[in-house]
Amino acid sequence: MSYKKIKNAADLVMNNCGPAEIAVILGSGLGGFEQALEDPIEIAYEDIPGFPVSTVPGHAGRFIVGTIAGKRVLVMSGRFHSYEGYSMKQVTLPVRVMSLLGIHTLIVTNAAGAVNESYKPGDLVILDDFINMSGKNPLRGKNMERFGPRFPDMTVPYSKSLRQIAAEEAGKLGIDIQRGVYCFMNGPCFETPAEIKMARIIGADLVGMSTVPETIVARHSGMKVLGISSVTNMAAGVLDTPIDHESVLAIGESIKGKFAQLVTAIIAAMSTNGIDII
Ligand code: HPA
Repeated sequence: MSYKKIKNAADLVMNNCGPAEIAVILGSGLGGFEQALEDPIEIAYEDIPGFPVSTVPGHAGRFIVGTIAGKRVLVMSGRFHSYEGYSMKQVTLPVRVMSLLGIHTLIVTNAAGAVNESYKPGDLVILDDFINMSGKNPLRGKNMERFGPRFPDMTVPYSKSLRQIAAEEAGKLGIDIQRGVYCFMNGPCFETPAEIKMARIIGADLVGMSTVPETIVARHSGMKVLGISSVTNMAAGVLDTPIDHESVLAIGESIKGKFAQLVTAIIAAMSTNGIDII
């Protein structure tokens, strides 16, 4: 993926939607948050040069840019996953584009399975860290010095100040919030009970099939990142029941309201706390 290709995509989004400061990537079942945007302008991925073509008919995906609490926010509705067959560069192209639009803060969200047995479906979890079990890295290949260094630091993948704001805002809203480590698996099959046992032993609280590629590229691009998971199911082997995508989506659906409330409050707090988010 050349810089020129990223710049072409970013120029088109900029011309259509204008710049933004904060981006929110919506996880499975968490759509609807974009309704919080004032004066939204949207662009479909199919109209952005170089963007992958969606594998799911009717779910082409789009960027929606608008205002929340006086901040310019870009919402990414529909993301690309490695399990769909996209390369890690394709999966993370939208994050490079965000960087060229002036976005300095990324809120990345997902639906995840709970490895930690004290979690329950419907919980929201602030990510403290991640484990990349995919064997893949979006930064593999020639380094793009314009964005960041060859060997980027990853000691604080998720911003401490944003995690603190998220916990405080959840408290104010009376939303129970968990903290945990997200383990990225390739998918598309759900994990085996033995894999989940391994994930628990190595320190994971959650498993999922997204988020980590975007986090790595956002950090490489110098962005602050906040990760929020919605627990849609107990991971394989925790309960004596199979995991199916429909119930994952149904739980996601039931969390949507409190998720949107929380993310809106976090964005508002970023703009009112006088916190330096750059
Ligand atoms: N495993 C992986 N990804 C997921 C899960 C899971 O149990 N639930 C939602 N996304």
